[in-house]
Amino acid sequence: MSEWLKAYRENHADFDQPSAIDALPADPFAAFSLWFDAAVNAQEQEANACVLSTTNAELQTSSRVLYLKELVEQQFVFYTNYSSHKGQELLLNPKASLLFFWPQLMRQVRIEGRVQQIDAAISDAYFASRPRESQLGAWASHQSSELASRAELIARFEAYDTQFPEVVPRPPHWGGFALAPSYLEFWQGQPSRLHERRAYELSQNEWKSKLLNP
Ligand SMILES: Cc1cc2nc3c(=O)[nH]c(=O)nc-3n(C[C@H](O)[C@H](O)[C@H](O)COP(=O)(O)O)c2cc1C
Repeated sequence: MSEWLKAYRENHADFDQPSAIDALPADPFAAFSLWFDAAVNAQEQEANACVLSTTNAELQTSSRVLYLKELVEQQFVFYTNYSSHKGQELLLNPKASLLFFWPQLMRQVRIEGRVQQIDAAISDAYFASRPRESQLGAWASHQSSELASRAELIARFEAYDTQFPEVVPRPPHWGGFALAPSYLEFWQGQPSRLHERRAYELSQNEWKSKLLNP
């Protein structure tokens, strides 16, 4: 071993020591919850923001940030406009990915699987809990379609404010998707540059995990 490597190892405990990746539980959902809670505790900005990637009929991928609402029954739930660019792509091709990046902790989680629309009653309940401005916005915004001017959007917002003076019902085009993963991967950056990865794969109804080269 060179003198340089000897010194490097001495200065980077993570080079030889087991770390966060080894501490991950065998259940990938417990592993996600562990890291998600750690991201919240570390005050990562918008810890629940993730990138959703979808693919269209021509196999063109597109990505955008959205909020994870909850992890329930081993499914990652988010809300959006079903008629939007992403909504249309997901209805056409339910295979999608979610990506979380928590820079302070030097962590990334990649999630791949299939989405489906959640029960209308669950979307109703969540929509009802949202602030009035978000509810009216869901009606007013024809998400992803061309907008002639901001005035057009404001006019629709005002019109729905008049139409729904009290309770704002959930628009039929707005609701949740749940992504049921078949693959999750956890990446832990290390100061030594020997980063770590653990992948979980669902095979015959059983989750198996393995380390990957970084
Ligand atoms: C921090 C952040 C959070 C967002 N959360 C959501 C969300 O929960 N749902 C949503 O539909 N769009 C959300 N957006 C907007 C999307 O990134 C995107 O612009 C919008 O959904 C239209 O995407 P599309 O045209 O690909 O369908 C968020 C954007 C940012 C930057």
